[in-house]
Amino acid sequence: MASRTTRPITEIGAAVVGTGFIGEVHVEALRRLGVPVRGVVGSSHARAVERAASLALPPAYESFEAMLNDPRVDVVHITSPNHLHYPQAKAALAAGKHVICEKPLTMTSTESGELVRLAQASGLVNAVNFNLRFYPICRHLHQFVREGGLGEVRLVSGHYLQDWLLLDTDWNWRLEPELGGNLRAVADIGSHWMDLTSHVTGQRIVSVMADLKTFIPIRWQPAGPVETFARTAGPTTARTITTEDCATVLLRYENGALGSMTISQISAGRRNTLEFEIDGSSSAAAWNSEQPDELWIGHRGRPNELLPRDPSLLNEEGRATAGLPAGHNEGFADTFKALYRSVYRAVAGDGPSEPDYPRFADGHDSMLVCEAVARSARRGTWAPVVRVA
Ligand SMILES: NC(=O)c1ccc[n+]([C@@H]2O[C@H](COP(=O)([O-])OP(=O)(O)OC[C@H]3O[C@@H](n4cnc5c(N)ncnc54)[C@H](O)[C@@H]3O)[C@@H](O)[C@H]2O)c1
Repeated sequence: MASRTTRPITEIGAAVVGTGFIGEVHVEALRRLGVPVRGVVGSSHARAVERAASLALPPAYESFEAMLNDPRVDVVHITSPNHLHYPQAKAALAAGKHVICEKPLTMTSTESGELVRLAQASGLVNAVNFNLRFYPICRHLHQFVREGGLGEVRLVSGHYLQDWLLLDTDWNWRLEPELGGNLRAVADIGSHWMDLTSHVTGQRIVSVMADLKTFIPIRWQPAGPVETFARTAGPTTARTITTEDCATVLLRYENGALGSMTISQISAGRRNTLEFEIDGSSSAAAWNSEQPDELWIGHRGRPNELLPRDPSLLNEEGRATAGLPAGHNEGFADTFKALYRSVYRAVAGDGPSEPDYPRFADGHDSMLVCEAVARSARRGTWAPVVRVA
């Protein structure tokens, strides 16, 4: 079992597993915090060497095991495809490393439940990369709702839409159930929407009624690997697709609130749009990830408000997360920096007694909700989220 250190953040070493789209975002956030990145691990050593050079990092590790054997690595960031999260997180914990793992935490709730138990037993810091919680406006709203700013939460609605898989020639490992999981759009981006709205409202989802649809049953797979959001040319093979392109899901929250969520990876013109609205008994709030520095607050008896991400106007949680003065836009990459600031404070031993970042337990809960979505869609009925106490 690793003991908590009290070292400064600049002496806590990190390694990043996976060198694709999001691995690079992890590396950049760590650098901005001053955390030394000891190296990266790729799908092959050659690929990792190339990426390490382009990112001006130390030489890449020969293998995942070589990285685990490096005593200078305290924290392992797992940004590989979904099917690798469980074995890699398990091995990293066994090697005494703190772990930050991308979502979805695993492929099944059996795996995620085991990771929760292993992490708890180890005493190591464990985090799941639900970075969207760390937009300053979302942090502000989290505190605002908790303090009764909207009254009782009644209705949660919105969507997460993308268009990068609109064409039958669009390809990514997420389309393959053995690499990405049996649920695709819901586990990939719906998990963010459900985690974020549950976090902000403080209400867990207790049951779901889901309709999933695969509009593109045959896709054309290129010969080599395709990184997320990348496009390739060359020979292709026809592949049958079983994972969903779209989902509409009705939700019930534990306080009795109702919800509805639309998820799609085939919505033309929507590159990456997450929106939610929360209607409470006194006021409402709405947020859009493409204008992340603004919070709409709706009222009945007085004019509505538009709150800018101005630290002097934000509450404590929002202010603590904001990295720049008002009018200087913050965005997606900044949420990683804010999330890791919290996680690394915990690794350093000076975080709050109640962790303020999403942990493996939150990743496991997300898996349980996703499994209820799959069960509901299969049976055509409402499905409870099965949480064993
Ligand atoms: N939090 C977020 O907002 C966010 C955004 C994008 C992706 N993700 C998650 O991050 C993970 C990676 O997604 P991505 O979009 O970066 O995919 P990607 O395909 O761009 O990158 C994955 C990388 O992992 C590498 N890899 C494959 N096998 C490996 C192995 N055995 N060891 C080490 N590396 C290996 C691949 O070569 C590739 O470079 C997924 O779990 C995804 O859900 C999260």
